[in-house]
Formats: sequence, structure tokens, C-alpha cells
Amino acid sequence: MRIIETIGALQEHLGQCRDQGKTIALVPTMGGLHAGHLQLVDKAKTSADIVVASIFVNPTQFAPNEDLDKYPHSPEADKKGLVDRGADVLFLPSVQQIYPENQTSDYEVGEIAALLCGKSRPIHFDGVAQVVSRFFDIVEPDVAVFGEKDYQQLQIIKQLVKRQNRNISIASIEIARESDGLAMSTRNKYLSTSERMLAPHFNQALRQAKSNYESGMALDDLINKARESLGRPFELDYFEVLDANTLTQITTSSADVIIVSAVKLGITRLIDNIVFRRSNV
Ligand code: PAJ
Repeated sequence: MRIIETIGALQEHLGQCRDQGKTIALVPTMGGLHAGHLQLVDKAKTSADIVVASIFVNPTQFAPNEDLDKYPHSPEADKKGLVDRGADVLFLPSVQQIYPENQTSDYEVGEIAALLCGKSRPIHFDGVAQVVSRFFDIVEPDVAVFGEKDYQQLQIIKQLVKRQNRNISIASIEIARESDGLAMSTRNKYLSTSERMLAPHFNQALRQAKSNYESGMALDDLINKARESLGRPFELDYFEVLDANTLTQITTSSADVIIVSAVKLGITRLIDNIVFRRSNV
């Protein structure tokens, strides 16, 4: 695996790959890699000839009160994981490379960025769209791979690609989970031992809500039940049942449903979701 730190060197290498007729997949990450991230690499390998993984902790998607300064990093383990899974290039740019002065980029996130996580993290998706646009400009991948764990992010990126008329196909993978159901996340490292023991209850509440939905329980009731069952020490940010394709209220024509939630457990923000087909459509 080549480790490349500058845009110039990356573009030179990728230019040579393209001259040989090779296609390129991009897997953007912020490092602190876990098995879910490595599954993105597996998916990328089945989607293109050359896999470029990037690690860049993007300052513009963190609010001042968030965890930018202590975001977990594990560079050696990350490199080893990426080599083992057959990534071809690890791109490790500096903030200066990604955000040189006077650089303007054309990204715009629609209304979807103000919903769900966007309510409690108002600048977050602007920052995500900005950095992903920048990576798309630099790498010009044929395919980019994202995780369904960050479902709202995935929808925003799909919209961005459409709006910017980019010729990039967006692939995704299902949520990778620990054996007890907790969605894998770099931020799970923040959980104390006792919080880690409680954390799977979050996914159980989502699964219970799905089963209540399927047995015909009214949405308000099943959301209230989930709120009650989570209780303390979980601090609920949102718990919603929505049309999975629009992230708005379910209508008679909605084909897929998402149950999506964010909570805080101590200092750790956890997000999770379940997407399923509506049986009566
Ligand atoms: P990060 O949190 O490092 O996640 C990188 C990619 O891994 C994202 O596409 C995310 O959805 C995916 N991912 C994380 N946990 C996962 C899990 N348990 N199962 C499946 N996929 C998972 O998301 C970001 O970084 C950033 O916002 C980024 C897109 C890199 C822009 O800065």
C-alpha cells in the first residue's frame, strides 16, 4: 500500500492508474478504524480496481464544543488493517492540503441537513459536504463507499452528487455491529466499562420499535415506548420513524421505513438505525 500525503503525488499516481484503464474507488474516513471501516474497503475492492482510503479528521464538521481535539486515532493499527484488507493507497492529507487559503468550493446541502442529527449539530453536515466535495475533486473516483450507520450523511452525499452532476456512483454497506448488537463506532472508545455494558440496549430499543411497528402499533405510541425503555442514563436526542428515502414523514407511497435515533450515554453520542421494507406497499 502506498501512503501518500500530498494532492500532487496522489493525482500523479492515480493518473497513471487511469492511463492503464483502471477504475478508482474512494473510502473516506476519519481514522480510528474498526471492522466496519474495513468492510467499506472490502466493498470498494469489489467495485473498482484501485482502492484509495483516506484518513482526515475534518475540522469543519466539528462544533467548538465537540471532540475534535480528542478524536481517537490509531495510525499504526489503521495502516495494518488497510494493508491486510488490500487497500492500494492511503491518502493522509494535512489540513493545509485540504483547506488552503482562498480555496472556495461549491457544495450545498439541502433541507435534509437540518433534520435529525442536523438539529443538534447544525454545522455538521455543511462540513461533511465540504470535505467530501473536496475529496471528490481531488480523487475523482468512479465509486465512493459509505456506511449506512451514518444514514443521513449517506443520503446527503447522494443528493450532493446529483446536485453537482458528478459521475460518481455511491455504494454503501450495512451497519457493522459488535456481537451484542451495538453499532461499531470510533467513538465507542469513549464509553466507560459500565456504559459499554448498557450500550446494546440502544439497538434493542430500535429492534423493539421495529417489531411494534410491524404489529401495527401507532407511531406515537411506539416512539413513547422507546423513550421510556431507554430512560436514564440514556439522554435521547431524537427517536423517529420516517420514510427511509426522504427522511420525512411516512406517506401511503413510502416503500421503505427507517427507525433512526441518536442518544448520549455519558459523554458519548451514539447513533443507530434500522431500515426495512414496508410490508403493506
Ligand atoms: P467516519 O466516522 O470515520 O466513518 C467513515 C465511514 O465509515 C462512513 O462512511 C461511515 O458511515 C462508515 N462507518 C462507520 N461506522 C460504521 C459501521 N458500524 N458500519 C458501517 N459503516 C460504518 O463518516 C465520517 O467518518 C466522516 O463524516 C467522513 C465521511 C469521512 C467525512 O469527514
